[in-house]
Amino acid sequence: MDRRRMPALGACVLGSLLAACRGPQDYLRPIGAEERVAVLGSAALIGSGLVALLVIAVLAWVTFRRRGSFSEHGAIDEAAERQGVPLVKLWGLLLPALALFVAFIATLFVMRALPGSDAADCQPGTDDGSDIQVYGHQWWFEVKYTFAEPSQNVTTATEIHVPVGRAMNVALQSRDVIHSFWIPKLHGKVDMLPERVNHLRLEATEPGIYEGECAEYCGVQHAHMRLRVIAEPPAAYALWLESQRRPAPEPQEARLSLGKRTFEQSACGLCHTVRGSDAHGQVGPDLTHVASRGRIAGGAFPNDTATLAAWIVHAQELKPGAQMPDLPQFTGEQLTALTLYLRNNI
Ligand code: CUA
Repeated sequence: MDRRRMPALGACVLGSLLAACRGPQDYLRPIGAEERVAVLGSAALIGSGLVALLVIAVLAWVTFRRRGSFSEHGAIDEAAERQGVPLVKLWGLLLPALALFVAFIATLFVMRALPGSDAADCQPGTDDGSDIQVYGHQWWFEVKYTFAEPSQNVTTATEIHVPVGRAMNVALQSRDVIHSFWIPKLHGKVDMLPERVNHLRLEATEPGIYEGECAEYCGVQHAHMRLRVIAEPPAAYALWLESQRRPAPEPQEARLSLGKRTFEQSACGLCHTVRGSDAHGQVGPDLTHVASRGRIAGGAFPNDTATLAAWIVHAQELKPGAQMPDLPQFTGEQLTALTLYLRNNI
């Protein structure tokens, strides 16, 4: 590489690292119960950093302190050597053991204070709906809310809504390969496995949108497997649940009706469900209320009319390898109607 470019490259790397410090996925500044983990982590980092500095200082002191060569000293003074043994016992054994013991006890306290992640705490359908199942797919997240009364169940994708201040039981599983569920500001990574359910408790103590993603390489579009947690006041959350339970709005004009018919009669309905229509596909995301989501295509793109139309026709160019095929067969009128119909599914 051209040496003159080195400073620019260095500034670029440093800039990216610093920018990453305050991003939306800043795991060093979590909120809620995870804050305790961050405090413990910082304390451990500072403590071990100080010890490392001390060791380096002692090493430097020993290295540069001239005590002459072996030939100058003659025979090794065994009595003087033995004097050093208690020093080694204290600094090399006792103090590290003590430090590790303190760190161990502090870790136990932090673990106890975290919301429980026992499977026993997470029996589905036991209360008013704090049970969420998240399934990893190549390459999107399916989200189901399960209630004691099955008619109250809600299925969505790419976004998890939670009420602020309430720990939610989340059950994680995969429909295909191994994925990993990670909302850096709220929780550590948890694997999503095909044949085993993992559990966690998700709690946001402040309203906001928390970005997350798949954290285990799962194929070519792993980097485009994103999700977000939307934490809102309990009343807003209840309203959202209520709106998601309703079937998709019935088209009120001819173009929307054409869109619905096109959706039902083309390939769309084979893979996607829209409740309130004849489309019951189970391969792709449930699109009953797709217009209420901020992003499409597993979180890869913004959810607007132009992007949605482009996604319908050119999915393989936008997200190569995704299960969604290119659908170039629609006439302009059909595509416009289809897009408007989906944009109307609020
Ligand atoms: Cu799913 Cu990476």
